[in-house]
Amino acid sequence: MTAAVVFHSVSKQYSARLGAPVLALDHVDFQIERGEFFGLLGPNGAGKTSLIQIMAGLSTPSSGHVEVLGERVDQNPSLTRRRLGVVPQELVFDPFFTVRETLEIQSGFFGLSNNGDWIDECLESLGLADKAQTNLRALSGGMKRRVLVAQALVHRPPVIVLDEPTAGVDIQLRESLWAFIGGLNKKGHTILLTTHYLEEAEALCGRVAFLKKGRLMAVKPTSELLAREGRLEAVFRRILSEDLEPEKA
Ligand SMILES: Nc1ncnc2c1ncn2[C@@H]1O[C@H](COP(=O)(O)OP(=O)(O)OP(=O)(O)O)[C@@H](O)[C@H]1O
Ligand SMILES: [Mg+2]
Repeated sequence: MTAAVVFHSVSKQYSARLGAPVLALDHVDFQIERGEFFGLLGPNGAGKTSLIQIMAGLSTPSSGHVEVLGERVDQNPSLTRRRLGVVPQELVFDPFFTVRETLEIQSGFFGLSNNGDWIDECLESLGLADKAQTNLRALSGGMKRRVLVAQALVHRPPVIVLDEPTAGVDIQLRESLWAFIGGLNKKGHTILLTTHYLEEAEALCGRVAFLKKGRLMAVKPTSELLAREGRLEAVFRRILSEDLEPEKA
């Protein structure tokens, strides 16, 4: 069976236009199997969001390519985009619509006209049911993040990508978000999560990858790392402090 996502030696060099040129990704090569709950970890600036943007077809790699469920993103971006639901790190939204309208419009992008039941389920599961008729402008930051999650899930994508979905959200949403996402994972959806909350990754992710300065330093089952080093935080600190050679995936 084809993997959910394959990163084929992906590199990304940002030009000097906005400052010094940055090699954000350096031949990143690994794959995520179908049905995995996978954690992509690394410090600020490691390249996590850059990798997600390339995967989502929002940015072009300098070399290498990404496959989503066997299709190359650069060759078939509209198909691979349908297979992905990406919750972006940055809060971006159109402030003129209500929560429900936003989700209906997003459904329309994917040609889904009878999506009301699923929209209701998303709103309910993310604690947004009572905000359905509220304009996005009137929502708090954490509520807007919930809408971004719902927006990413509206077409029931087989691969769900969450780029720091719990940054700045309260404990209640974290719990309901993980219950909802965990349930989707049990139903077969593949999950890719980036987070700086390592305890979240410990609890949720079957495998984790560590990026450092654009290089893949490790890809391992979480249980193996925990058995060897106790906490992911210890692994993280070790990788940050050592000048390790990247490991082969
Ligand atoms: N559009 C851009 N133009 C120039 N450089 C960029 C751009 N986007 C990201 N970078 C640089 O690429 C590197 C990787 O950034 P990226 O956002 O991928 O990191 P990240 O791992 O997601 O970090 P964080 O944990 O802070 O979200 C950083 O050095 C960043 O400054
Ligand atoms: Mg990021």
